[in-house]
Amino acid sequence: MIIKNICCIGAGYVGGPTMTVIANKNPNVKITVVDLNHARINAWNDPDVNNIPIYEPGLSKLVENARGKNLFFSTDVDKAIHEAEMIFISVNTPTKTYGKGKGMAADLKYIELCARQIARIATSDKIVVEKSTLPVRTAQALKAILDHTGNGVKFQILSNPEFLAEGTAVQDLLSPDRVLIGGEQSEEGIEAIQALVDIYASWVPLERILRTNVWSSELSKLTANAFLAQRVSSINAISELCEATGADVDEVSKAIGMDSRIGPKFLKASVGFGGSCFQKDILNLVYIAKTYGLNEVADYWEQVIIMNDHQKGRFADKIVSTLYNTVSGKKIAFLGWAFKKDTNDTRESAAIYVADALLHEQAEITVYDPKVTAEQIYADLDYLNLRSPEENRKYVKVVNDPYEACKAAHAVAILTEWDEFKTYNWKKVYDAVIKPAFLFDGRSILNADQLSAIGFKYTGIGK
Ligand code: UDX
Ligand code: ADP
Repeated sequence: MIIKNICCIGAGYVGGPTMTVIANKNPNVKITVVDLNHARINAWNDPDVNNIPIYEPGLSKLVENARGKNLFFSTDVDKAIHEAEMIFISVNTPTKTYGKGKGMAADLKYIELCARQIARIATSDKIVVEKSTLPVRTAQALKAILDHTGNGVKFQILSNPEFLAEGTAVQDLLSPDRVLIGGEQSEEGIEAIQALVDIYASWVPLERILRTNVWSSELSKLTANAFLAQRVSSINAISELCEATGADVDEVSKAIGMDSRIGPKFLKASVGFGGSCFQKDILNLVYIAKTYGLNEVADYWEQVIIMNDHQKGRFADKIVSTLYNTVSGKKIAFLGWAFKKDTNDTRESAAIYVADALLHEQAEITVYDPKVTAEQIYADLDYLNLRSPEENRKYVKVVNDPYEACKAAHAVAILTEWDEFKTYNWKKVYDAVIKPAFLFDGRSILNADQLSAIGFKYTGIGK
């Protein structure tokens, strides 16, 4: 089966970059990315390709190459579903905020809406690909909806989780460690898997394309994220011990990372992990384990989240205690708001929770982030629902210039590891802040000795 027409539902951080790369590598396949969010689609279609809604190094160029040729962005979901032979579901699956599984289970309402819409529109057989991270056995639910509400057409469900990390999405998509495709082991299932293998095989070596059953594929995605997050929480736990004992966590990371069994990646101590996946996926895993009565398994993974919350809280506490136990009415400059560098995504960013803890202590915060808009920062604070929108705008200012952010600040805090922070004129910052000049480096990206020589009271993580 040769696929000529693909539709992707959801033009977000996963759907947008993934489809852009697939379109670039498969010029003979027409790809339409659809979304209910008109503003987002308009931004993807903006004549100035620098205005696409997602910041990822290298992405705008790839969009420019394919857009209008074989890559289209549209709000006409029905038409795209109708025409496609293969439909990727790439909508968001946030943690449930209500009912059973509240705060833990994945909210599948957007997925279900997609399934019902596909069932309603489809008049020819289709392959439906789960791209969003889903809890184990969602494919079964998808299939039940499609088979029981459809127009008698046949659906094959594949699980094809995306492993791209934000900030390196293009690179991760162009040379993935592996592509995972889970499907039914029936004749039709195997044929559907092959159709998707063929799409990826136009640029991914075959030995990197793994075929599994659907449940293994779904569970592998949750497990990969849980393992990665666990490494960050593990090194963050050691960072606290380093601070108490005089060891340096970066030295410990380097030493253990050179053990080839451990490896060097994901051992950077930080203010805490964020992003749309780690916390959500672990909570999901915990919920699934509990559902099966596996309480020790659930507790084991939950500890990764507990440690992460502790790390974010500890950073805020350190700022308060260092500033003589009060930040009330003091200006704290935040450098960075995104959950990591090279992305404008702020979901679950540690900055949000550190800001909240400091606002609770009546601090005033001024934020500078190279890629995050003021609108997004206020939306993140408003979403916490702990203060009125007016209070958030009164006590948190957002500026476009890092030196302005730091001007007359009682402390400067680095929340995201943007490269540009390393090249600032730190003497100029020093001259502009209130003395003693406290600097809290939540990512340990600056040179402590150089900053101390300038006069800063420098605090890193795990030092
Ligand atoms: C993650 C997975 O890496 C990716 O495979 C999956 O598809 C989605 O979830 P992402 O959340 O985009 O990707 O970014 P990632 O690079 O994994 O970082 C997650 C968080 O961990 C960030 O806040 C980052 O700053 C933090 N982190 C990462 C550390 O604090 N220390 C590290 O050593 C690595
Ligand atoms: P991710 O990081 O998983 O890509 P995002 O939140 O960035 O998540 O993107 C998901 C996108 O899916 C959003 O732009 C949202 O508007 C879109 N979406 C959700 N439900 C539907 C639906 N039923 N039809 C079309 N688009 C949808």
